[in-house]
Amino acid sequence: MQGADPAWLPDEAFRPIGTRHTLIRGSGPLVDTVHGEVAEACVRFGGSVSRDGTLVSCEPYDLVLELTGTDDGDCGEAFTFERGDGRTTVTASGGSGLLYGLFHVVRLGDTAFQGSYGREEHRPESAVRMLDHWDNVAVHPVMGQVERGYAGGSLFWEDGRARGELLGRVRAYGRLLAACGINAVAVNNVNVHEAEARLLTDRIREVAEIAGALRPYGIRTHLSVTFAAPMVLGGLPTADPLDEAVRGWWAEASARVYAAIPDFGGYVVKADSEGQPGPFAYGRSHADGANMLAAVLEPYGGTVHWRAFVYDHRQDWRDRTTDRARAAYDHFTPLDGEFADNAVLQVKHGPMDFQVREPVSPLIGAMPGTRLAVEVQATQEYTGQQRHVCWLGPMWSEVLRFRPHDGADGASVGELARGGLVAVSNVGDDPFWTGHPLAQANLYTFGRLAWQPDADPRRILDEWIGLTFAPGPDDTRLHAGLRTVLDGSWRTYEKYTAPLGVGWMVQPGHHYGPSVDGYEYSPWGTYHFADRDGIGVDRSVATGTGYAGQYAKAWAEVYESPETCPDELLLFFHHVSYGHTLRSGKTVIQHMYDTHFEGVEEVEEAREVWASLAGLMDPARHARVAERFEEQLRSAREWRDQINSYFLRKSGVPDAHGRRIY
Ligand code: GCU
Repeated sequence: MQGADPAWLPDEAFRPIGTRHTLIRGSGPLVDTVHGEVAEACVRFGGSVSRDGTLVSCEPYDLVLELTGTDDGDCGEAFTFERGDGRTTVTASGGSGLLYGLFHVVRLGDTAFQGSYGREEHRPESAVRMLDHWDNVAVHPVMGQVERGYAGGSLFWEDGRARGELLGRVRAYGRLLAACGINAVAVNNVNVHEAEARLLTDRIREVAEIAGALRPYGIRTHLSVTFAAPMVLGGLPTADPLDEAVRGWWAEASARVYAAIPDFGGYVVKADSEGQPGPFAYGRSHADGANMLAAVLEPYGGTVHWRAFVYDHRQDWRDRTTDRARAAYDHFTPLDGEFADNAVLQVKHGPMDFQVREPVSPLIGAMPGTRLAVEVQATQEYTGQQRHVCWLGPMWSEVLRFRPHDGADGASVGELARGGLVAVSNVGDDPFWTGHPLAQANLYTFGRLAWQPDADPRRILDEWIGLTFAPGPDDTRLHAGLRTVLDGSWRTYEKYTAPLGVGWMVQPGHHYGPSVDGYEYSPWGTYHFADRDGIGVDRSVATGTGYAGQYAKAWAEVYESPETCPDELLLFFHHVSYGHTLRSGKTVIQHMYDTHFEGVEEVEEAREVWASLAGLMDPARHARVAERFEEQLRSAREWRDQINSYFLRKSGVPDAHGRRIY
């Protein structure tokens, strides 16, 4: 794609295919895509590709890509991979499967054509692997074009219109997403303002254009809608989900959507959340709201993704009985079993809001009768805003492997997410897609983890490095350097920001940079309660808000006591003194000082490693990251000094090592 970074699909990644002889069997739109990919590689590297024809075993094909079912562009994402008798064979019963099989061969590179492999079956664990774009159609006066976007403008929208001239870029985006396994995209912000609301009705053509650009890569398009659409767009006096006229309005609107986009994925809804309208206004439940939309989508095979991010954002900070962490569980568990089959409850992975460290949301595992989707945040709102390196693979992997029931027994979060895995997108119109070029690793890792939630994230990181940075003579040094910079970057970020799971301490509004008391007296329900003696939120059942009791027994017991609570979550669950000794053996205050000094040192080291990689990659990419490291280091020092000074002043406890604190 002209102008845009090839990310993990550089031409070179297709050399092993493009230098060989390939046969493609089957027909349909996604098979055409597969053929186009192989044909382009062959033009570049001198190989050949044939279509159909009879497969005779003596024919000299190195690679056979065969569709065994029908390619209706949708069904069948699984594929088989086999190598024997000098030939590599991929079969799939659906077009998407064949496409995923092709990208599997790309990932394997030359090894796909060496030795013998028995027949391997590959299928995604999760049927829906989705990116939610928080893109505004019109530039929002506060949030700009992309809410919490750190990669330039929107890929889809500019100044109130679909970026028609950039549909090629959208197609290239779809290609990248398919290559890491993503199959669904919601194209507009969950906070639906007037311009976005209209996408559902008179502007559906623009959505259809985007859907048309993503479709060749097996990606279904979804739309965020406002629950008040029947009023805002239809002029009805109510949006009551049990009102017949309201249901009729949604049914007609949905019929028009499907006329324009026959494979439309469905709606994403943020209702009764941070000022968005919802069913509470009519005394109806969230199941009533979600089911009404599910019913109108059902005839077309669509799904409503109903977000569980419902809490009181107008809380009085003096009120110690209201705990935001409890909200999703308290609102939704009573509704378990009431949601329609095609209503998916989309739950943020933690109970708060994408902090660098949170426990897994207790809602996951507490709603066996509901299809849940788990939402993570690739856009780095609270993790350095794509100015800091923060590879989130290990965090997401911990979440997906967590077993909510009785510790080691029971299903993992990855298995419980029957409604899919969703990430808030970190992509914009930036030439590197993600602002910080290394943030591409987050997008790639999300896709691969969504495909296989128990995959080793470090193996995915290696895969991303191998694909993105085409092999060269200094390959090993480059690979090792990139791994050093990325691998521990989440923990490094955690070290120099808010400690021990307490979260926040960010500047209000934009959420970048430290402000220890930024949200301490605010209505958003996000506090640390630091005083001269200690810090943390008592969420125990015995003496606190009772949040710890929302977990199944084994975890509830672990979290209930400061003695058994994991160190990294201690201040999320408990208010303890600065002198409290962690399981690590350090006091809380000394841990804070040490981690903040260490975190900055680790950024300094990573910056040095990055500098040593100059000359081993495209200079523009190197320069962009080098420039961001300067800001990361400045910001990390600011975090260190503000946090350490604040807590030295509060506690009066000096650093055991006598380091400089202000
Ligand atoms: C956070 C974020 C908002 C976003 C919200 C959501 O609160 O700061 O910008 O709208 O999450 O997930 O809906």
